[in-house]
Amino acid sequence: MNLEGPRLVVGHVTPNSARVWGRGDAENRVMFVKATGPDGKSREESVQLSAEDGYTGVAQLDSLQPSTQYDLEVAYAASTEAPARSLSRRGAVKTFPTEAQPCTFLLNSCNFHGWGPFRSNREADLRRAEVARGVDLVIHAGDQVYADKAPFSFTLEDFRKAYVRTWGQPGTQQVLAGQANYMLADDHEVVNGYAQDGQLTGMQRAALWLRGHGGPREEQYQRLAQNGLRAFDEFQSAHGPKSYGENARYYHFSHGVHQFFAMDTRFERHNGKREMVSEGQLQALFQWMSEHRDQPKFIITSSPFVLEKKDAEEKWSSPEFSGQRERILDFMAQNKMEKVVFLCGDIHASAHASMQITGKDGHELVVHELCASPINGTLMRSRSQFLGESQGTTPGGTSYKIELNEDSFLGGTTLDTSNSAVMKIHLDGSRLNYQIYRTRTGDQQPARQGGFTI
Ligand SMILES: [Fe+2]
Repeated sequence: MNLEGPRLVVGHVTPNSARVWGRGDAENRVMFVKATGPDGKSREESVQLSAEDGYTGVAQLDSLQPSTQYDLEVAYAASTEAPARSLSRRGAVKTFPTEAQPCTFLLNSCNFHGWGPFRSNREADLRRAEVARGVDLVIHAGDQVYADKAPFSFTLEDFRKAYVRTWGQPGTQQVLAGQANYMLADDHEVVNGYAQDGQLTGMQRAALWLRGHGGPREEQYQRLAQNGLRAFDEFQSAHGPKSYGENARYYHFSHGVHQFFAMDTRFERHNGKREMVSEGQLQALFQWMSEHRDQPKFIITSSPFVLEKKDAEEKWSSPEFSGQRERILDFMAQNKMEKVVFLCGDIHASAHASMQITGKDGHELVVHELCASPINGTLMRSRSQFLGESQGTTPGGTSYKIELNEDSFLGGTTLDTSNSAVMKIHLDGSRLNYQIYRTRTGDQQPARQGGFTI
């Protein structure tokens, strides 16, 4: 295992800029990021790092050329004047186009590097990097670390170590350094089933008490959550877009004409209020859809929005959150919102599903959903745990009919991890093709593939 951890992550990219994340240490408090274009010309930025942020930081590279490949090199030193640099890493970024261009991206989630037979699977880790090679961007749809699995994280240092452990894997480092990366949270970034009003199990509380982290139930949960969120911000939010200010963890970005909205379905979640997202986030999503009504739109949410699981705990279709799901469906029906595709992870199975939505006025539209999970997993879900077909009507009068594309489903029984997979998605105008690649087998060919017109 590489205990050194990540030193280079390419984050948000536009036609003219790139955010490059790095992590030094107590002896290396300055990060240098060098970008070299195809003409051989280089430029360098330096960033001061501090102990408070775990020596992590982001360099903003501006004035880049669109659709251009840059080689990146990061290195660290004691000060800007120090001659010796160390911890150097190489990576690359291709800036985004200014106009309509085909786009290929990788969708993946659930990067488990745990214990026993599921322990850090080098093969899956490297296989993901192989599938990702050459894509324009990678979407990490949640559970980029399992901070709550052996050992169970509580302090800020515990959480940072979870990132160092998981992102130190050689394949993961290649994926993070090779092109734009976009990340959104799910529960394992903090603790299983996280919500603002969640709580720890008795076992978890006892384990923390034994480690000297006892305390009143609520206070203990809030301390853990604060540390988990802070580590999430240091390692994940820091290099993402800040579309809605520093405090919002949802954001939008685009690649040519293709528009993406990454939801934060985790940190604003409140079970008691029956909210998976805040009202502010819902309004931001509606406004973004309206602004891009004629373009292909991708909404990234960790849990599936379309596909329904039979025991729908914690999902968009669960009783506590279906009210917000119905509001989104009503909005799409009333505004005749075409060209919407949901992208998700979370379910430990991969699939394509679609939903036919019929408004009160009889207008029909179809939205699609693509799910890819897990990169390297355990607890696989089988076909029998999902509804193949279902339907319903919202209180607002919108009716919907869901259909799982049976040929696309790739899952398995609980302990059979062979169908761990990632999805490669290719967009060319309004045509979308997808390929689902297994990561834990030697397969070179996709295990499932298909496509549709958006
Ligand atoms: Fe997961």
